[in-house]
Amino acid sequence: MSDVKTIEPKAGDAILVYLNPDERGRPREAVVVVADDGKPRVYLNECKHIPIPLDAGTAQLLDDETGMLFCGTHGALYRLEDGYCTAGPCMGETLDPLPFEVDENGNVLLSPDAEPAAT
Ligand code: FES
Repeated sequence: MSDVKTIEPKAGDAILVYLNPDERGRPREAVVVVADDGKPRVYLNECKHIPIPLDAGTAQLLDDETGMLFCGTHGALYRLEDGYCTAGPCMGETLDPLPFEVDENGNVLLSPDAEPAAT
């Protein structure tokens, strides 16, 4: 991977990572979290209700009460472990996971060109 980004994920944090823009020049971000199993997950920072960032530009990504990923626009809640939406207007849908690697120190290695797998 060229220009790979190295992220040190910590339990209880959600880290925003800038990615390269999409083919239409729109900005893209990833969100890196650590699930209850202690392993990181990386998702595209884009709600499944309306394709806008979960944090709506606030950088607040986790719900204070549940610790789940939270969409600040209409309140959707997503599980950390699989991105599954359990509440809100897009209940039953799943955030787009991004491919990544983990180095020997537990850091997430993420390509700025990372794309969700085609479904
Ligand atoms: S835009 Fe995320 S719940 Fe509506």
